Amino acid sequence: MADPTEWEIDEKLKELGIVEDAPASPSPSPAAGAEAEAEPRTAQPEDRPQLDPDEIGTVAIREELYISTDEHRIEVYIPEERRNEVAVGQYVVIPLGYREELLFAYIEKLSYLKRDAVDDMSEVHVLLGADRVGEDEYIELAALEPLSLITPGGKPVEVRYIPKPNSRVRRVQNKDEVITGLDLPEKGLFLGWVSVNGEPITFQGDLKVPYYLVNDAKKTGDPLIFTHVLIAGMSGRGKTHVAKNFLRQIVGSEYLLERRGGEVRKPCIVIIDPDDEYWGLRDDPKDPPPHRDREELLGVGGQYGGVGEKLTVFAAVERGHRYRGCDAYTEFTIPFELVRDFPYLIAGGELNETQYVALERLVRDFFQKTPEKEWTYQRFQQFLEDDGEMQPYLQSGAVHEATLGAVRRRVLRGPFEGIFDQGANPLTQLYEAVFREDGVSVFPTNHLSAEGERVVVLAILSMIADAKTKVVGTEWGRRIARYPVVLAVDEAHNFLTRAETQQARIIVQKFVAAAKQGRKNRLGLVLITQNPQDVHDEVLSQISTRILLGMEQAMAERAGAPKHFQRALPYFERGRMVVHSPDNSKPLEIRGLEFCVVRHGK
Ligand SMILES: Nc1ncnc2c1ncn2[C@@H]1O[C@H](COP(=O)(O)OP(=O)(O)OP(=O)(O)O)[C@@H](O)[C@H]1O
Ligand SMILES: [Mg+2]
Repeated sequence: MADPTEWEIDEKLKELGIVEDAPASPSPSPAAGAEAEAEPRTAQPEDRPQLDPDEIGTVAIREELYISTDEHRIEVYIPEERRNEVAVGQYVVIPLGYREELLFAYIEKLSYLKRDAVDDMSEVHVLLGADRVGEDEYIELAALEPLSLITPGGKPVEVRYIPKPNSRVRRVQNKDEVITGLDLPEKGLFLGWVSVNGEPITFQGDLKVPYYLVNDAKKTGDPLIFTHVLIAGMSGRGKTHVAKNFLRQIVGSEYLLERRGGEVRKPCIVIIDPDDEYWGLRDDPKDPPPHRDREELLGVGGQYGGVGEKLTVFAAVERGHRYRGCDAYTEFTIPFELVRDFPYLIAGGELNETQYVALERLVRDFFQKTPEKEWTYQRFQQFLEDDGEMQPYLQSGAVHEATLGAVRRRVLRGPFEGIFDQGANPLTQLYEAVFREDGVSVFPTNHLSAEGERVVVLAILSMIADAKTKVVGTEWGRRIARYPVVLAVDEAHNFLTRAETQQARIIVQKFVAAAKQGRKNRLGLVLITQNPQDVHDEVLSQISTRILLGMEQAMAERAGAPKHFQRALPYFERGRMVVHSPDNSKPLEIRGLEFCVVRHGK
């Protein structure tokens, strides 16, 4: 005996004109008969409803149609002529009919059901053989995940009204439906085009839907850059390409400084560049994209082209290592005096807690008793090597002999001599050039030794983090506090690691503190990494906007990808990304620009 739902589905298909009257259709059971009375089935072939070109099917009830505060079940019959057009992820709309709202949803699941279990067991399959059973012997259903209700005023609200059974379900018809349904900002920093399954959604006249990150200081939610951005993806999936395009959009933005009586300032962008790729932001692309693509970008308010003189490359000097990247750059050196504020610069990851405490003390005393002119690595070296100087520490038991031995071995090691105080332009004097309004300061580091890179990057990160968290009594501290700072760190996993070393702990603490106050103090972090699993949890948890490119499922989970994208992300080719930014929009897929808006590659 067929159950009533199967019978109902058969009838439904007939109504839609999808199948001819199936002679083998079982007659309704008594229970179904009762239902049939409530809704008489009198459809004749001539008044079967035809689907409009945009429609994909009608709301079906297999078991139950419901919405609730946490779960929903909305299923749609997909008639045969639409079956090849539907895909998981597509956005659809159901006009409620009895009210003016439209229900906005995406296709979460597609399934085939046996139209008639009895037939399946007997005549059709047994007599005809499976290879001759056509698709029309089955029913296709799409399960929808409702996202919002679009009000007549074009506002998205939560799903609180249910679509009626049999309502027509159609594809989204215009840009406004997508913008409202997904609750997208209508302007801001351009990130890419709203997409489904790798393809931008396109409406008549080739119109695509731009995706922006809120960037308006006066709007609620603040510019989202100050609640930080993560760009993650496997190697070669286009993180740096995305980061450059994104950072270029930020140049020229204006932000209100809450702390400084409502001043409006343009940001200073500081870029930690381990692969020497970001100086390209100065120039236009070498192979410009087609005119049409450029116009399209400019048409939606996107920024295009090099920033020219606004950008300065700062190349650290290290003995025996030469920067050979772009032509125009400014050299600088890390003055040893920064060790006074950041003793871990000379500790590396190798000192244990006791040893680190001893180092801190020695550093503090050194800076206290040494005249400012002599705040050099060389002088500190002498101090540490001087047994007379060390005697009081050992005698009082403040520093154990073995501890001093470990500190000496670490600090007196070769590379520091070639790293600190390498001539002109100490960072502490160059600060006005580095931290300037509407400037882009790029710090390439791949010409340095591993130790050199560590010292340089940590010095810059520490200066910014400190100046943005507390009152730093130095000129550079006041300077950094004065402007909005966007700090982009490529290969961030190398610097904000989960490593359990003393140095890593201090840096992470500093960063977490700075990140927490990012909105108030106008510090925005843009962390770029292929190993989000190596970035410290506490740092990750401060990030509100995740831009995720192709990556393994486990990495996607770790990077905070929305559940329904986790399985798809491994298949994302270059340029496809998921944006998860709860204060900005619903999570969704976008396609970034295929071209770089500035120079990328040599
Ligand atoms: N959306 C895109 N369309 C076309 N080409 C792209 C796109 N994104 C990146 N590319 C190209 O792919 C190459 C790798 O990109 P990119 O350097 O940005 O990757 P990455 O993820 O930063 O790599 P790595 O892990 O090595 O740092 C570059 O040559 C870049 O120009
Ligand atoms: Mg890269």
